[in-house]
Amino acid sequence: MAESMTGLKRTHRCGELSAANAGERVTVMGWVQKNRNKGSLAFVDLRDRTGILQLVFEEGSTDPAVMAKAAALRAEYVIAAVGTVQKRAGAVNDKIATGEIEIAVEELRILAEADTPPFQVEEDSKTKEELRLKYRYIDLRRPDLQRNLMLRHRVTTLTRQFLEKEGFLDIETPILCKSTPEGARDYLVPSRIHQGCFYALPQSPQIFKQLLMCSGFDRYMQIAKCFRDEDLRADRQPEFTQIDMELSFVDVDDVIDINSRLMVYLFKEILDVDIPYPIPRMTWQEAMERFGSDKPDLRFGMELIDLSEVVSGCGFGVFENAVASGGSVRALCAKGAGSLSRKKIDKLVSFVRDYGAGGLAYMQLAEDGTRKASFAKFVSEDLLDQIIGKCEAENGDLILIAAGTNKVVFDSLGALRVHLGKQLGLIDPSEFKFLWVVDFPQFEWSDEQGRFLAMHHPFTMPYEEDIQYLKSDPARVRAKAYDIVLNGTELGGGSVRISRADVQEKMFEALGFTPEQAYERFGFLLDAFRYGVPPHAGLAYGLDRIVMLMTGVDSIRDCMAFPKVKDASDLMSEAPGVVEDAQLEELGLALREPESED
Ligand code: AMO
Repeated sequence: MAESMTGLKRTHRCGELSAANAGERVTVMGWVQKNRNKGSLAFVDLRDRTGILQLVFEEGSTDPAVMAKAAALRAEYVIAAVGTVQKRAGAVNDKIATGEIEIAVEELRILAEADTPPFQVEEDSKTKEELRLKYRYIDLRRPDLQRNLMLRHRVTTLTRQFLEKEGFLDIETPILCKSTPEGARDYLVPSRIHQGCFYALPQSPQIFKQLLMCSGFDRYMQIAKCFRDEDLRADRQPEFTQIDMELSFVDVDDVIDINSRLMVYLFKEILDVDIPYPIPRMTWQEAMERFGSDKPDLRFGMELIDLSEVVSGCGFGVFENAVASGGSVRALCAKGAGSLSRKKIDKLVSFVRDYGAGGLAYMQLAEDGTRKASFAKFVSEDLLDQIIGKCEAENGDLILIAAGTNKVVFDSLGALRVHLGKQLGLIDPSEFKFLWVVDFPQFEWSDEQGRFLAMHHPFTMPYEEDIQYLKSDPARVRAKAYDIVLNGTELGGGSVRISRADVQEKMFEALGFTPEQAYERFGFLLDAFRYGVPPHAGLAYGLDRIVMLMTGVDSIRDCMAFPKVKDASDLMSEAPGVVEDAQLEELGLALREPESED
């Protein structure tokens, strides 16, 4: 039977007590982690979000009624205990912060009984994620998840404090918005009053924060919920949180400076890690050439090597054709991996196929100086020597070569580099290597749509000196866009926005929008710009990703309270769910009959 806590007031959380409190009478409350009952002596581990505290009940000194109640305690019961802090008579437990002490309990109340939980509440649970997510409220009692969410709270609290000092105002923007198709797929919400019309949930507060600059708020910030109906991955959820900001009367350097200082501050305060300031910058072009990625992991080397010149005219069609058709031939030199088995190399070859590469050519350099190249019969010995020279390869190394369009070569070798970095143990997980990637191309070509797309978004300002090429040579235009990258993950990104009508018009033209189409999509923003727009710029971080990297977990699911799984459903609440016919009717919606199997 559950009892009331009337008359009791908690004096401490479990983890707040130490040997310094010895002799004090305290009242603690929490969940039973474990009950070790030895008849005349019982130890109960009490747990709350601050840690574990040992309660002790001993025949002779504890009241027999309390003794009997303690014997009935089971895991996850919620209890209150009043007693005296004492130094442990038995062995000290140096694994827990309260390991030197225990509470000799005088009064015990059972505030709630609990059914046997579907899995034990324990650090680093081995229980399957599906089961844990179905019972997320129990899963969230695990100390590691509690630590992650407490750290997340620190990140948002300190961010607000830091940005407030820098003059930012926290302003909320709507969740029910107009769909402005660009980027990911929208989540739509049907309107009851305007039947046939839909709100879209915001993919980000982008347009609103720009409008706030037009309204003169000067510096805006928000911890903003964003919604994107896209394929999920370890670092992608349909509903996620941004630390979002926008600033007026600034340029690239100002945004980078404030945000570099914000990162240095957060990592020092939360992890006591010193991030070197200034955070280095690299152009997009350099990042691609050296690392095959616009989010390079700088914790290890193994950079890409351009073999295009070396192999030109070598007679091997795969290499020659790639270069002749404007692509390239590039390599990675994996130090000490020359003796990798054929099976393992085959796995690397199939790994790059996912990135569009036809395969990999490779050369193994044995310790005894002999070499084996998958393409040896197509090329001269001299070419093999030249490749080894260019790669600065030594005995015992493995050279992996990709040929094709630059995109395919960068994508596949970039991903392979990270894969090998992990496989060969080249990455120190305790390191934090930040990087600003700057000067992104303004556009990327979409084969699918047969037109240029904005690489960041259509309001991103090009470098002034590149504006002249917007019409004649869009591929050459560099954007005032920047990403902040940590250990190979894109933490955030942003840009200086276009605040000149003539540039915006040229931009829409380059994107293939007629003025009417542009107006239909972004009319209210364009209107706002006619009434006095300050130069402005901004950036947004993925909060979940910051917490993921700070806590060292592999997925943002472990950094948010109630995540969704791969098919975008919530296993606990079973969202999304069907709704009553009456609700659909009210919205003027009818569901299509499911298509029959035959
Ligand atoms: P962008 O689309 O680059 O920029 O998003 C900014 C950051 O948000 C995070 N992010 C995600 N996190 C989890 N799940 C997702 N599905 C997801 N999608 C994005 C990433 C990313 O770097 N409005 C612009 C910013 C600006 O220009 O100011 C924007 O949203 O960490």
